[in-house]
Amino acid sequence: MKTYLVTGVAGFIGSAISRKLLENGHKVVGIDNFSTGFHHNIPDDVEFFEVDISEANQLKTLNNFTFNAVLHLAAQTSGEISFDDPPKDLLINALGTLNLLEYCKDHKINRFLYASSMAVYGDVEDKPISISQHTNPKSYYGITKLAGEQYVQAFSDRIKTTSFRIFNVYGPGQNMQNIKQGMISIYLYYFMKNKPVLVKGSKDRFRDFIYIDDVVSAWTKAIDEPKAYGAIYNLGSGVKTTVEELLKLIAKKWGDPEHSIEYTEGTPKDMFGIQADTKPIMKDLDWKPETDIEEGLSQFIKWVKDLSD
Ligand SMILES: NC(=O)c1ccc[n+]([C@@H]2O[C@H](COP(=O)([O-])OP(=O)(O)OC[C@H]3O[C@@H](n4cnc5c(N)ncnc54)[C@H](O)[C@@H]3O)[C@@H](O)[C@H]2O)c1
Repeated sequence: MKTYLVTGVAGFIGSAISRKLLENGHKVVGIDNFSTGFHHNIPDDVEFFEVDISEANQLKTLNNFTFNAVLHLAAQTSGEISFDDPPKDLLINALGTLNLLEYCKDHKINRFLYASSMAVYGDVEDKPISISQHTNPKSYYGITKLAGEQYVQAFSDRIKTTSFRIFNVYGPGQNMQNIKQGMISIYLYYFMKNKPVLVKGSKDRFRDFIYIDDVVSAWTKAIDEPKAYGAIYNLGSGVKTTVEELLKLIAKKWGDPEHSIEYTEGTPKDMFGIQADTKPIMKDLDWKPETDIEEGLSQFIKWVKDLSD
């Protein structure tokens, strides 16, 4: 049995990874400050502490533990919101990551996994994007996630690090009330409320959607995989889906093919389209995405409909 620290344990991805680690027989200590996370997301067996990662002294709460690895997912996670309060985004995403790395160094914690984002790329060509692509983030969120990633790299001579540039994650457990983060969850919100879907930007934009279980399996496989030490990976499905295709699929699977859609101005500095080159992560981790968008949407919609019953 190993002991892991999961930051952002009350959030969508942090809670799902923690659940899997517990299922695999490990101990999970979790921290969160509930800025977007929820108490009810935290799995029962997690030993939880309310900690704000941007306050280094609050990490002292964890001094009695010896961690085998830190899985760092806590963040301000919305590109749109990063423009409302840029200093806060910087404090949480950049300083918060630095605080955790310093904590690892001081406590001789030798493994650190970091949730970076596809937002570090900015606008790119319409082809699968590899990790060697020049980074040029458009949103403050992308800038601070890249700063976090670069702090992680700066510690990689002392700590075994792995960063995942995560693409668009969706699936059960996602926050269905936050209409500023998560393209699929935002569109499903309008179906759930039986309101016209408000699409911010062009229907020709495209994304690479990855189902939550595939994200969890990549993270858990990477923890003890030496090939992942020091690596930065794209974590996506490798499949491109346009907004128009997505909306048609959702409408069909929801059972409301005529659902009304309204297009409005895009959000500031939104990326037009991006798709991951996933060859390196598939090879190194012997991992592949198991759930395609058709199946993933069916699972997600079933969960959303059960919620509203
Ligand atoms: N969901 C996606 O599609 C996606 C894509 C790319 C990257 N990511 C990254 O993955 C990670 C998890 O994202 P998510 O979708 O689960 O988001 P989420 O908002 O559900 O989870 C983030 C968690 O971090 C917590 N948090 C925020 N500020 C904190 C602070 N100062 N101290 C402690 N906890 C704090 C929040 O309360 C929340 O529980 C984030 O780092 C995000 O940037 C997510």
